Amino acid sequence: MKRFKDKVVLVTGAGSGIGRSTALRMDSEGAILIIIDINEDELIKTKSMLKNKESTAKVLDISTIADVKKFFKDLNKLDALINVAGILRFDNSHEVQIDDWEKILNVNLTGTFFMCSYALPLLLKSKGAIVNVSSSAALGSHAWTAAYSASKGGISAFSKTLAVEYGMEGLNVNCVCPASIETPMSTNPNMPKDIDTRLLKKIMPIDGVNRSPDEIASTIAFLASEDAIHINGIDLRVDGGLLT
Ligand SMILES: NC(=O)c1ccc[n+]([C@@H]2O[C@H](COP(=O)([O-])OP(=O)(O)OC[C@H]3O[C@@H](n4cnc5c(N)ncnc54)[C@H](O)[C@@H]3O)[C@@H](O)[C@H]2O)c1
Repeated sequence: MKRFKDKVVLVTGAGSGIGRSTALRMDSEGAILIIIDINEDELIKTKSMLKNKESTAKVLDISTIADVKKFFKDLNKLDALINVAGILRFDNSHEVQIDDWEKILNVNLTGTFFMCSYALPLLLKSKGAIVNVSSSAALGSHAWTAAYSASKGGISAFSKTLAVEYGMEGLNVNCVCPASIETPMSTNPNMPKDIDTRLLKKIMPIDGVNRSPDEIASTIAFLASEDAIHINGIDLRVDGGLLT
């Protein structure tokens, strides 16, 4: 399947986990990738795994507007934007520090907004697609993630605004809402002390199995492709039935 042959696809957070798997999936489907991450060493590793030698890698902090603006100034074609970059930390909600709240909102929500906003002129030209990685936390399932859940709820909400506002011009904007995916973000999470462990049951898939980031990459590839032409403005749960 080569759904992205000659298509330019930008993936943020491509240095790890879901972003890396998505880049590899898009590469296997023929995309010319632009991969972005703040972590240079890991980004270079992902780049070295790509078969398409036209693909490029760029170290970029998606939450720094001046850098995002400068990056898009030099770009003249884009068919799909995949916003995967994100950060997470766990705190009891009454103990969240304002610096942590702002950092999580800045990267996850505002960073995703910056990327969408500057990519829009190119995506309207190509009648392309945006896939934003939200979370089951946006839809309501997680304790100890006040800032993260708020940021993901924001992503899901503003993605629908984009879908409605630009849908008539041929743009599709959808969210994937994963849960229980094995990546560096979810392995050995730093939980607050003295948590009520009964709440842990609320973040388990129906079959209790955590899955590989490849399961999210395949969903992202579907939503970014022509196969999903009639899907616009949804939150697609890929959560093992967690919220069923
Ligand atoms: N793993 C899960 O179970 C799960 C569940 C729901 C949602 N998600 C979401 O999926 C996305 C990817 O998560 P993951 O599990 O692969 O995590 P990860 O930590 O493995 O990867 C996140 C990547 O984003 C990059 N990044 C962080 N801040 C950045 C910034 N300011 N600019 C550019 N890049 C930045 C990191 O360097 C890292 O490479 C995140 O948005 C996360 O919230 C993950």
